[in-house]
Amino acid sequence: MANPTLLILPGDGIGPEVMAEVRKVVDWFGRNGRPFDVDEDLVGGCAYDAHGQAISDAAMERAQAADAVLLGAVGGPKWDKVPYDARPEAGLLRLRKDLELFANLRPAKCFDALADFSSLKRELVEGLDILIVRELTGGVYFGEPKQITDLGNGQKRAVDTQVYDTFEIERISAVAFELARLRDNRVCSMEKRNVMKSGLLWHDVVEATHAARFADVQLTHMLADAGGMQLVRAPKQFDVIVTDNLFGDMLSDVAAMLTGSLGMLPSASLGAPDPKTGRRKALYEPVHGSAPDIAGQGKANPIACVLSFAMALRYSFDAGAEADRLEAAVEKVLADGLRTADLVGPGGGATVSTSEMGDAIVAALEASL
Ligand code: NAD
Ligand code: IPM
Ligand code: MN
Repeated sequence: MANPTLLILPGDGIGPEVMAEVRKVVDWFGRNGRPFDVDEDLVGGCAYDAHGQAISDAAMERAQAADAVLLGAVGGPKWDKVPYDARPEAGLLRLRKDLELFANLRPAKCFDALADFSSLKRELVEGLDILIVRELTGGVYFGEPKQITDLGNGQKRAVDTQVYDTFEIERISAVAFELARLRDNRVCSMEKRNVMKSGLLWHDVVEATHAARFADVQLTHMLADAGGMQLVRAPKQFDVIVTDNLFGDMLSDVAAMLTGSLGMLPSASLGAPDPKTGRRKALYEPVHGSAPDIAGQGKANPIACVLSFAMALRYSFDAGAEADRLEAAVEKVLADGLRTADLVGPGGGATVSTSEMGDAIVAALEASL
């Protein structure tokens, strides 16, 4: 049987640095009974430099065909002045939209070894394991009109549009409820129905979906601003949070700091299962960006990207045992005291570079055999 295919898009800034460490892990699995056919292409600023657009049509075709896509990060100050539609982030947004990756899973877990590394007190984050389910192909990211108009009186007007249809809210809430059943069976939905019509519809559709198909799951609602406050006041009260594209973007960066660093948070972006094959299109990427402030210095934490590959093993390749093994290897290196520079806590600063962290994870995988 042919090997499953992985398209790797390292991107810009620290993207290629963290992806080089994931390659070591992918290669290790290849040597140990889980081979992949790996292809690589450009996305983001580097694609703009090469082709004048943030992702080429050829790369999009390869992404459509791949069993899973792994992406590093895109963007950086070098491309601040490029046309808006060709900016690096547009490549990532096109991937999400064209592959219809509407369900973005952003788990925030606090590893025991990092319980003193969060900006919150140990007792608030110890054992934390929450999952943010972010709607990814709708809302204000894609709603039309989206434009800046010259009003002709020295003023301009900028418009972004938040749009949600029933089916979009239904399918993302169904994903959240299904995942909750595999966890602590609790979902908290966040919107702002007190100011937004889309928040009102969001609330009502989540309620209806719950009543019709998921009444066994505990459902609560919070206004998203209060939700952000609760996330830093008492984060362990949550199990699964389901929210829209923009709130999910912000709340997941907040959640990152509960785990010690933005460099720890992986994500999976999934499409609907194909009715014939059951296969979901999928893209896996760290929650963090291209970190221009530390790019090229060997300081980046590769764990978010490595854990994103673990999510690929679990969600795209039916390889839960391998995903567990990889997560345990990450747990082991952290328990051994290895720290990249972003992990600031007791015991001082960085002990390892990006590539030393990747090597240690591979060594821990090897030792786990
Ligand atoms: P960022 O996530 O790149 O960085 C925020 C801070 O976190 C920086 O101080 C950075 O050094 C640190 N950081 C992030 N990841 C880290 C890691 N793995 N290891 C150690 N430290 C890490 O966010 P930003 O600075 O606001 O954005 C920079 C660029 O990245 C922008 O162009 C933005 O659009 C883009 N971006 C891309 C993605 C993506 O590709 N998925 C996500 C977020 C931001
Ligand atoms: C993320 C990023 C992206 C987003 C940007 C780079 C388009 O911040 O994946 O969290 O806003 O979704
Ligand atoms: Mn973000």
